[in-house]
Amino acid sequence: MIDAHSHVLSIAAGEVEKRRFNRMSKKIIAHFTDAHLGQKLVMGRGIEKDKMHYEHEPAEHQENLRQVLDDIARKGISNIIFGGDIGSSESVPRFFEILKAYPFAPSLLLGNHDAYADVTKYSRGDSNALTGKMCFSQDDGFFRSVFLDTSDNTVGDNQLTWLRHQADGASKIALFLHHPILEVDTPLERAGATLRDRDKLRMLLNGLPCEVWAFCGHYHMDDEVWEANIRQFVTPAVSYQIVKQAERVEVETGRVGYRVLEIDEGEIRTEVVMLDRTYHGGAKNS
Ligand SMILES: [Fe+2]
Repeated sequence: MIDAHSHVLSIAAGEVEKRRFNRMSKKIIAHFTDAHLGQKLVMGRGIEKDKMHYEHEPAEHQENLRQVLDDIARKGISNIIFGGDIGSSESVPRFFEILKAYPFAPSLLLGNHDAYADVTKYSRGDSNALTGKMCFSQDDGFFRSVFLDTSDNTVGDNQLTWLRHQADGASKIALFLHHPILEVDTPLERAGATLRDRDKLRMLLNGLPCEVWAFCGHYHMDDEVWEANIRQFVTPAVSYQIVKQAERVEVETGRVGYRVLEIDEGEIRTEVVMLDRTYHGGAKNS
């Protein structure tokens, strides 16, 4: 399907896309986020303790995750970054079981629904630069990629200090974190789900002498916004979408999404992929 958004790819053209991605000697990454496995959304309860309200339903959103991973694999993309919110604590083993079935090189972030202790049983990340935080950084040629842990809804002073050091000598930074930094024009901004120390993080980034490309999830929508040297991209969710322009927080369950990044020397190109959900049933999975 074609979304109104000009960046969106057509899934019907999957084979064409695969050839196109393989042809380029660029680093291609799929950024997917907010799987919410085992979490069935309950509407009308508002947001409690910074979170939407969910009921435990073991099979919830598993087929969405498989659909997204199938599509990424079909495009021949092997580098994947998960942007956080695996789902319920009980679903963490299933998330890694599903992931293992694919030939991916994954990097993982924690979201506000994830617990460090649950996830690090299965993945310690590329390295843990700070004790108790799943944060790490790596050089991608022209870019320094930095991954932050905002699972407690904050960046925290220790990570801010660490981040400042990671920026030393970097000409561009690709920043991956669960929560948006810059304000998005949507009712969710006023629902109490924002990163608590976002202003501190924004000020730190604004003070850096380089461009920052930030990739996040959490808001379950496609958004792109610029402010000074920060360019922020919000990636749609694997689980369900939240309507960006609405009177109050509204949900859309018919589509799943993720984002493709093409890192080519000093440039990042990015586009969102939206897919109609192929499975709408109940508990199909064992
Ligand atoms: Fe989240």
